[in-house]
Amino acid sequence: MKLTTIILAAGKGTRMCSETPKILHKIADRSLLEHVYDMSKQLPDNKIKIVYGHGGELVRESLNQLEATWIEQKQQLGTGHAVQQVADQIGDTDTVLILYGDVPLLKLTTVQALLANVSDESLGLLTVQLTDPKGYGRIVRNTSGQVQKIVEEKDTSDNEKLIKEVNTGIMAMKGSKLKSWLSQIKTNNAQGEYYLTDIIEMAVGQNISVITNQPSTEDEVMGVNNRMQLSHLERVYQKEQAESLMEQGVTLRDPARFDLRGSLQSLGQDIEIDINVILEGKNTLGSNVTIGANTRIKNSVIGDYVEILDNCVIEDAVIGAGSRIGPFARLRPETVLGTNVHIGNFVEIKKSEVAEKSKINHLSYIGDTTVGSNVNIGAGTITCNYDGANKFRTVIEDGAFIGSDTQLVAPVTVGKNATIGAGSTITKDSPENQLTLSRSKQVSISGWQRPIKKEK
Ligand code: UD1
Ligand code: CA
Repeated sequence: MKLTTIILAAGKGTRMCSETPKILHKIADRSLLEHVYDMSKQLPDNKIKIVYGHGGELVRESLNQLEATWIEQKQQLGTGHAVQQVADQIGDTDTVLILYGDVPLLKLTTVQALLANVSDESLGLLTVQLTDPKGYGRIVRNTSGQVQKIVEEKDTSDNEKLIKEVNTGIMAMKGSKLKSWLSQIKTNNAQGEYYLTDIIEMAVGQNISVITNQPSTEDEVMGVNNRMQLSHLERVYQKEQAESLMEQGVTLRDPARFDLRGSLQSLGQDIEIDINVILEGKNTLGSNVTIGANTRIKNSVIGDYVEILDNCVIEDAVIGAGSRIGPFARLRPETVLGTNVHIGNFVEIKKSEVAEKSKINHLSYIGDTTVGSNVNIGAGTITCNYDGANKFRTVIEDGAFIGSDTQLVAPVTVGKNATIGAGSTITKDSPENQLTLSRSKQVSISGWQRPIKKEK
């Protein structure tokens, strides 16, 4: 089956009260339109056409990576008019699927069921029963239950207003039929628009039967028109993801306070995640990982048995098995930690490798540094990697011990098993196995008196 999917995305989205076109607003860090696109991308042999209008160039620029044909609808004269813009690109034998760019949570299985209803004698229409159908097109059926037409809210009679089954807007049919119906749509309705929904009555007139199917939940076909609906669908989406993680063996202390904005490349077992954790981009979590409260992890690889304590921010980092991070640690891009490394509170690491069993436990900045194994870096150690113009590397070899409050002025190397005395400013390489310190001699002055405040 050759498929053409038309995603309608030209609408204005006035109620978002935003400079950003509606379809670029995001759920889980992905635009509404990308959610629809990604779902339809999973259908085989599918040509995707996106009808855009409002915020045109911005929409195309931000999403030009999508494999789709963009068709501009210069004036938004209705859903029928929108589909007409694509008519000359529809093959007669194609099956055509119509989707909305602002309905982000529609499921592939629902669409597959819809497509299964398309033949030369029938079309597929996705409908839903709503307790409050106000604003939607109503599905009018005859006494034997067959769909006759769709009536828009503003064109309904009092009786039709009572109908609770509504049009989701999502439908599928044969290309040749669609094209002939499109050419007959008129604007003789309450809104003076070209209604795509008029094609239903035309189909019925030609003995094409309208076969309906329903989504598994209302939220699947809910559109985003304002920020309340956006936040509602964000939570629906997050709840689904959280449930899927729990099914795979992850403990979430509170699924309502967990956000996955991206994907998990792989996932171990017996992972425990405390509240207010955000996983962004592409992450990998090993088995028996624990993540403390209020932690954000982006594009990182976390090994087995890693313990991340509360309030950490981790980005583009690799953390070896058995390591312990935080609380209050920040791992910046290109941090690579070996196994059983300890990174403690108020430690920032950037573009550095730290080999196994090394410890940086308190109040340090380690940047552009190679740290060997079994190194102990005392509290308050700073690598001075930047002279205001260029950056330089620090090398700390295996077994070194860096006393507290040391500044390592790069480029500099601390040799194997070297010890640096506390409070040193190290500007030259420090030989292995020796104690190196740079510290002014301590003096005590006897008979010294504290100054006394003068009387006025
Ligand atoms: C439409 C349906 C209605 C259905 C409802 C479901 C018609 C005439 N009515 O109503 O039966 O219950 O959706 O939400 O089809 N769009 C364009 N160009 C246009 C107009 C709309 O691209 O000229 C796009 C919008 O961006 C949106 C979609 O089409 O993604 C639906 O448009 P909208 O204005 O929300 O349609 P409704 O009037 O709500
Ligand atoms: Ca709408």
